[in-house]
Amino acid sequence: QSSYPETWTDPDTDIVFNTWGIPNGGPQTQGGFKFGVSLPADALTTDADEFIGYLECSSKDLVNTGWCGVSLGGPMTNSLLLMAWPHEDQVYTSFRYASGYALPDVYQGDAKLTQIHSKINATHFSLSFRCQNCLQWGEGEMARGVATSGGFMVLGWVQAFEAPGNPTCPAQITMEQHNNGMGIFGAGFDPTIANPSYSAWAAKATKTVT
Ligand code: HEM
Repeated sequence: QSSYPETWTDPDTDIVFNTWGIPNGGPQTQGGFKFGVSLPADALTTDADEFIGYLECSSKDLVNTGWCGVSLGGPMTNSLLLMAWPHEDQVYTSFRYASGYALPDVYQGDAKLTQIHSKINATHFSLSFRCQNCLQWGEGEMARGVATSGGFMVLGWVQAFEAPGNPTCPAQITMEQHNNGMGIFGAGFDPTIANPSYSAWAAKATKTVT
């Protein structure tokens, strides 16, 4: 996928995102994948500790509704991981953290996700969300994070065909290793990523799905 973002306005929320993705129909992942980020107005000069995200992920069919995830640091290990999956009419999420390439643990930090809008159909699910305390993680030697003033971040993505087990209980889901593509890329920011309307958009994030 290209490091260059597309500036995209979500018609469902009017939020303007920088998005990076893999087109539907490409060989890397069945159904395509898209991730978007919007940042506070001053985030290109003062490092932000939150963002508004957009995830658009694929479902193979009505049984294999799947899950998808992003690594906010790039690699799977020692990064804040966010996964999402659809179940009935809700999109559920879970923050995770992995020190090795095995089932990630539930993240113990104070990252907080509130939903703005979600959508589910037979082939895709999407979620726009506010992610607070999501740009710094780990402690001591393992401290990592994103400096938004640097103008880019490194992102990892994965998709999986099978739905997680225990889907309505995010801290207790079961899952197999992702099997519908993965990648890691430098996500460059366009200045449109930092928007004066950020606070107004963030105020729309009122829904918690647990
Ligand atoms: C890569 C295992 C869950 C994000 C990998 C790789 C393995 C693995 C073995 C390296 C594959 C290769 O290089 O060929 C697993 C297992 C999981 C799991 C066993 C659960 C049972 C997750 C979750 C996320 C995630 C929940 C994010 C939400 C990534 C990313 C990569 C990756 C971004 C590619 C970047 C990298 O190689 O570090 N995973 N994973 N994984 N995984 Fe996972």
